Amino acid sequence: MNDLTLLRREHSEATQKIAPFTGEGAYHGSTRRRAPARAASTPAPIVDEMAPATLRDYPLDGTKAIANFEATFSNVYVVERTLPVPTQEEVRDDGVVFCWCPLADALAEAGPLTRRVLEAMKELVVGDKRFVYVDSKIQYFEPGDVPVDSQHWHIDGSIVARGAAVEALGHNLLHDMKARLTSERVPPRYLAYQSSDHCATLFLQEPLTLTMPELVPSFDGLDAAIRALDPPVASQPPASIVRTDGLSLHRATAASAAGWRLWVRVVETDREVQLDTSIIDCYNTVFRLPR
Ligand SMILES: [Fe+2]
Repeated sequence: MNDLTLLRREHSEATQKIAPFTGEGAYHGSTRRRAPARAASTPAPIVDEMAPATLRDYPLDGTKAIANFEATFSNVYVVERTLPVPTQEEVRDDGVVFCWCPLADALAEAGPLTRRVLEAMKELVVGDKRFVYVDSKIQYFEPGDVPVDSQHWHIDGSIVARGAAVEALGHNLLHDMKARLTSERVPPRYLAYQSSDHCATLFLQEPLTLTMPELVPSFDGLDAAIRALDPPVASQPPASIVRTDGLSLHRATAASAAGWRLWVRVVETDREVQLDTSIIDCYNTVFRLPR
């Protein structure tokens, strides 16, 4: 198996990696470090699930301005299971973390706590996608630390486009939101677990419709719009497994207290991911706000 997909080591407060919080990470790490490292040497073919279909309507000369559309986020959020809350020592000593690791390999290599989570998740896999991957993090937070380099409302597994058509519009990268939100495309499916009550992910749990650009370079505008609307939010319960999908808006929060947290996510996707650079250390970094 590809050993870039797992890291086995002892975790301690003294060796927890810490980086300054910049707010620039759009996802589960820092975009700046992650973007170059994620690209495989041979790009995988673009599957329908990840095709930037909206971008095809934009000419390469950049003469068409980015249009708005009415976006409806279904915000699937279902608490499927609640497992026993682990002790801090169980989290700290679980040993192995994963990054785009196939589920079968992760089940074989996981520490006892993560294995129990994955066994419960395995029963919840729908099974209609080509690949099932595991991401996990064991992190120690001081109060105020953030598990990723962003607290923006966002979706996971957005359709990211790069290249000439994107550059013609003045960007290096665009998320094709309209393509993701088109109903006939089955988005990636997610199961997410987090162990603790001191750094819970926030989720929207009701459908939300708003007008936004079809293509966005970041989640800045979407985050601001959601904060202005101030919809009710759910805080993921400790030791729960929640079901979401690629249309589920959520965001990280800063830790309210010191302590360890295990986070595990299973994604069902048609997109094959093969890492060619280790990003797992960056992935398990915590991000510290200025004090
Ligand atoms: Fe996320």
